[in-house]
Amino acid sequence: MTKKRVAILISGRGSNMMALVEAAEAPDYPAEIVMVISNRPDAAGLAWARERGIPALGLDHKRYESREHFEGQMQSALELAKVDIVCCAGFMRLMTAGFVDQWRDRMLNIHPSLLPSFKGLHTHARALAAGVKIAGCTVHFVRSEMDEGPILAQAAVPVLDGDTEDALADRILNLEHRIYPQALRILATGQAVIEGERVRFRVPVNQMPPLISPSV
Ligand code: GRF
Repeated sequence: MTKKRVAILISGRGSNMMALVEAAEAPDYPAEIVMVISNRPDAAGLAWARERGIPALGLDHKRYESREHFEGQMQSALELAKVDIVCCAGFMRLMTAGFVDQWRDRMLNIHPSLLPSFKGLHTHARALAAGVKIAGCTVHFVRSEMDEGPILAQAAVPVLDGDTEDALADRILNLEHRIYPQALRILATGQAVIEGERVRFRVPVNQMPPLISPSV
């Protein structure tokens, strides 16, 4: 098995990055994490990756004269590391269409809502304010519009009476850590195809790793 070479883009604590790195340590996992990049050099996740021996690059976006220059630097690093797939994990920079197109169908993002509901920030507070009874998270292919793109995996939790933003965020974050590695596995093994901006699975759903935990 040739493992896909994966880079993870982060901006902060990097708990989803950690989940991906830990999943990729399994010998039969079809992807290896070859690089972590953060637009914030002080991101906690960068230090964690370095301790694990993963090349971790801090590229301070404020030091570049334009978004294109910043992305050009990122693109060079990704090409140098012969990256096949990019996983955004709490990467808080909007990306230009030019950069996104270079990674079309090879770049994933995780978003803490059941897309297409609650794109953007403060998803949990907005979900609570809207009174939804189910909330969750989504792994999707990245397109140039924010939080748009073919959906690869979703998982849901019930919203409980008395839930606070933090409590709901914690339960959903637990699920994020489970579905992101599963979604990357599906992409890396070529089990997902995009048809008309919808993801179809190449194998019957009952032969895939479970995407929704029955025990949340
Ligand atoms: C996660 O909730 C993710 O869904 C969102 O940003 C947060 C990042 O958290 N895109 P972490 O850095 O992975 O811990």
